[in-house]
This record gives sequence, C-alpha cells and structure tokens, in this order.
Amino acid sequence: MKIEEAVNIDDLRRLARRRLPRIAFDFIEGGVEDEHCIAANEESFSRHRLVPRYMVDIARRDQSAALFGQSFASPFGIAPTGLAALFRADADLILARAAAAANIPFIMSGASTASIEAAAEVAPAHTWYQLYAARDRKISADMIRRARDANLSTLVLTVDVPVSSKRERNVRNGFELPLKLKWSKSLEALMHPLWIADYLRRGIPRFDNWAPYAAPGASAKEIAAFVARQIPCSVTWRDLEEFRRLWPRRLVIKGIMHPDDAVEAARIGVDGIMVSNHGGRQLDQAPAALEVLPAICAAVGDKLTVMLDSGVRRGGDILTALCLGARFVFVGRATLYGTAAGGFCGAQKAIDILRKEIDLVMGQIGCPSLEGIGPGFLLQPDAPALRTTERAEPDSAALLEPLRLADKGAR
Ligand code: FNR
Repeated sequence: MKIEEAVNIDDLRRLARRRLPRIAFDFIEGGVEDEHCIAANEESFSRHRLVPRYMVDIARRDQSAALFGQSFASPFGIAPTGLAALFRADADLILARAAAAANIPFIMSGASTASIEAAAEVAPAHTWYQLYAARDRKISADMIRRARDANLSTLVLTVDVPVSSKRERNVRNGFELPLKLKWSKSLEALMHPLWIADYLRRGIPRFDNWAPYAAPGASAKEIAAFVARQIPCSVTWRDLEEFRRLWPRRLVIKGIMHPDDAVEAARIGVDGIMVSNHGGRQLDQAPAALEVLPAICAAVGDKLTVMLDSGVRRGGDILTALCLGARFVFVGRATLYGTAAGGFCGAQKAIDILRKEIDLVMGQIGCPSLEGIGPGFLLQPDAPALRTTERAEPDSAALLEPLRLADKGAR
C-alpha cells in the first residue's frame, strides 16, 4: 500500500510499522504496563453513539472552529510528541509545516529535537510550545522567555509526567537515548532499509532545544544524558503560579484528569486545560480521558477552555468529544503514524483523513456547522428509550438543545 492509498488512520499505522524498526514503532505505539489505558481510551469512543437528524440542509458544511480568538480550519490539532526525529528526519518541523498548511494548531514537544525557534520560523501562527518543567527552574524560565521572544501565542505545561513510566515495550527493546541498536535489534532494523538510511544520513538526533543548557560543545549523547537528568521532575501548583507570572499569553495545562484540579487551574488563571492521560503512556489504571471529560466540563463551566486528547483515531471520535463538552481535540499518534510512514505527505494524509471523516459525519448527523454540535446528538449508553421532542422541524436551536436521552424520568 502507498500513502495515497491509505483509507484510514489504521492504514497509516500499518505503513509506519512497515517502515520503522520495532524499537522505534513500539515507542510510538506502546503504553504503560499492560496497556489497559490505551484500550480504555479507544473503547471509550466506541461506547458513544451519535443519533442522526435528517432533513436538515447540510449542502454546505463548515468544520472551522475558533480557539483562543483564532480561527482554525478544523476542530483538531497536533498534540506534542517527543523524539519524533527518531521516526523521520525533521519530523517536528514536518508536523509544524503540515499543521500550518492545514490551518490547525501544532504543539511542539518539550522533548522535541528541533528548537522552539525553528518551529516558530516554519509555522509562526500555528506553533504552540509544550513545556516540561526542568529540575533547574532557570532552564524552564529561559524556555518560556524563548517561546515569548519567538512570538508564540500559547504555552502548554504538561503535568502528567511526575515520574517516568514503566513502558514495557521500551524496556524489552532496550530503548535508551540516544538510540543504541544492540546486535539483535540491529538485525531487525536492517529489515527496514529506508529508516536505516534516513537515520544514518542524519546521524543521531540531537535535542537542539536543550543544547544551550548543556555543557558547551556537548555531543548528542551528552545532551541526551543532560535532558534525562532534568526531566521528569515534580511540578506543583506553586510552580504553576510562577509559570503563570512568567508567561503573559495563553497558558494551557495538559494532563488534567480530575475536576478539582481543573477548578484549581482556573483559580490560578490558566486559559485552558487539556484533558488527557498522555495517550495511555503514564498510568495504566487511569480512566479514559473521554470518561472524565463531562465531569470536568461541569466543574469549570466557562471559566476556561476545555480540550481533550487520548485515543482519537476517527473524525467521528473528534465530534463525540465535542458533543461531550470539549472545545477542541488533539491527536498524537494519528499524525505521527502519517509522518513516520510518509513524511510531509503522510502528515497531510492523516489530517486529510480526519478532516474528511468529520465532514461526512457532520453531514450524516445533520450538523452543518460546529456551532450546532452538542449533547443533543449523543445517545447516552444507559438511555431507556429515545424521547420525542416537541419541535416538528429541527432548527439550529433544536440542535443545540440537549435531547436528554438519558433522562431516566422521561416516559
Ligand atoms: C507523546 N505525548 C507527549 N505529550 C507531551 O506532553 N509531551 C511529549 O513530549 C509527548 N511525547 C509523546 C511521544 C509519543 C511517541 C506519543 C505517542 C505521545 C502524548 C501526546 O501529546 C498525547 O497526549 C497522546 O499521544 C494522545 O493520545 P493518542 O492521540 O496518541 O491516542
């Protein structure tokens, strides 16, 4: 199969698996321990059903979505994914470019190999920066300054990596940084000549973003060791207050899973939160992000912007999350599979697949614009029966009005 022939994100996943050696593919694909959390994320979407409304004029469908005062062409963006250059040379910048071309946001990872400045140059209006707080808080303060100087609009602080997690695929594969292929792994890697050629041509990816803080003239390996001493580390609400003080623009906290934490973030003056379990990579016992989303939305109301990632593989998943209260959705693996499989074209293909799926589902459910999306389209899992509404003709107000399908008192 060629990239152009990929029909869905799973096809891109298969193409990525074919191109990458196991040690690299498993790093993308894998989660923590038994990977129950990954399964919970994916299953949470399949548990929700969208109830179609027909005979609505859907001849023109508009999936553009406003976020923090900026209009994006679709209601999803690219979540931060570290070490992307292991899968494809310059993957961070490929993703940034693809996001800018598609007019969606791109979050540059705090564990990226390219620098903040390089991403800001290729996608000035679409790049956000994700901060991993460093043990040496002077480094974090300087990264915030650099993001400000690069004119980025939004800083994303990831809080769900207080400790490294036990990702068993990585342990078994002997994954360490910089990537060292042991004999047995090298033989397997030789079966993926395109990846090997790319890797050898570029050399070991270097954490350019962190290079200014390591010893002068440090090698890629020494910088990687330096980064490993700085992150992960513990982050507290007091640190958040300090970051809020240092960063005057939009501040988003990524990894919030409890309504009380969302309320505290709002109290500190954060602009947005991303409900996320890091794509099932940190706590295997964590609930699916989608499961905790409604309670979090109910707790914070309009005090801040609630977004979500973790487990999104379909355009319909994105619409389901919007129905449950998310204002915007992010994808991690979907665009990474595309990039690993086919570089810029692959990233574009992933975005295009999700976009077309959103468009078709909007047409199918009778929702011509995202202003109309809401809980009214959801069949709650425990609904005793569909309740008829009084309106004879659905209009946009009716679309907005919750059907309250789960209202147990309904007859
Ligand atoms: C991630 N994720 C992540 N998150 C973050 O805040 N900083 C990071 O550097 C990374 N790195 C990273 C690498 C890889 C290979 C993956 C797959 C994920 C988590 C990411 O931002 C996002 O939360 C999840 O990927 C969302 O889940 P899905 O869409 O992959 O199911």
